[in-house]
Amino acid sequence: MAKIIDGKAVSAKVRGELCEKTVSFKEKYGYAPGLAVIIVGDDPASKIYVRNKKKACEEIGYNSFEYALPAETSEEELLNLIEKLNADDAVHGILVQSPVPRHIDEKKIQSTILPSKDVDAFHPINVGKIMIGDYDFVPCTPAGITELLDAYGIETAGKSCVVIGRSNIVGKPMAMLMLHKNCTVTICHSRTPDVGAVTREADIVIAAVGKSDFLTGDMIKEGAVVIDVGMNRNAEGKLCGDADFEACEKKASYITPVPGGVGPMTITMLMKNTLRSAELSEENK
Ligand code: GUN
Repeated sequence: MAKIIDGKAVSAKVRGELCEKTVSFKEKYGYAPGLAVIIVGDDPASKIYVRNKKKACEEIGYNSFEYALPAETSEEELLNLIEKLNADDAVHGILVQSPVPRHIDEKKIQSTILPSKDVDAFHPINVGKIMIGDYDFVPCTPAGITELLDAYGIETAGKSCVVIGRSNIVGKPMAMLMLHKNCTVTICHSRTPDVGAVTREADIVIAAVGKSDFLTGDMIKEGAVVIDVGMNRNAEGKLCGDADFEACEKKASYITPVPGGVGPMTITMLMKNTLRSAELSEENK
């Protein structure tokens, strides 16, 4: 039976450490780190994420600046707001919640946020820095996963790791981080003919597919570490991941549950990036 990786507990511990570091930061510099979150339109899931980001800022002691813009907001108006926040010394992190309405070019938005305030790590400069292993910010989901692996003392050097999914937010940066952690990394995706044949050889399987029960018990080897990034609703409307949890739990050495695994880590990593950004702004003064 696998050990359950408790993302809620690790997240609470990291947030506790961030609270303490924020107290020291405020004592030293006389102000709090600030995070600006922009949401365009009224996607219900995005609204919940944004509310939780604001709550996390309050809990840790950051200033949070929320901009809820109507769906009709033009790309130019949004770019102007980002430029204003780029120039605002009280703002250390800027995040535009995805997805944005279709008339707005998301790539243009991501490239306009100053790399030094890009706490999502979506700017091409930050993406490139991750590639060469010289980075300040890591996208929140991959960052949360490496934090979980470290918290449980899971060995990565020399291990084989399969990442299922090739998104810019999770799959690609995740693969790069695991490479930096000295894994032998393989990425599977929708055009991989036999994903199971690849995952069965893996010491660590990271599933970021978006399909419930995609990773079945017969797709992993005995003792594998299973990290489930999925956030799906099954036929009964219940939140579930990409792995068949009951079957994988029997074979794995470690497994993340959904909910309560990777999910609780992501906003915490955003908070970590925000403090890092504020500290870097002081170091570079
Ligand atoms: N929407 C879903 N996840 C994310 C994220 O990590 N960052 C942003 N900006 N939007 C998201």
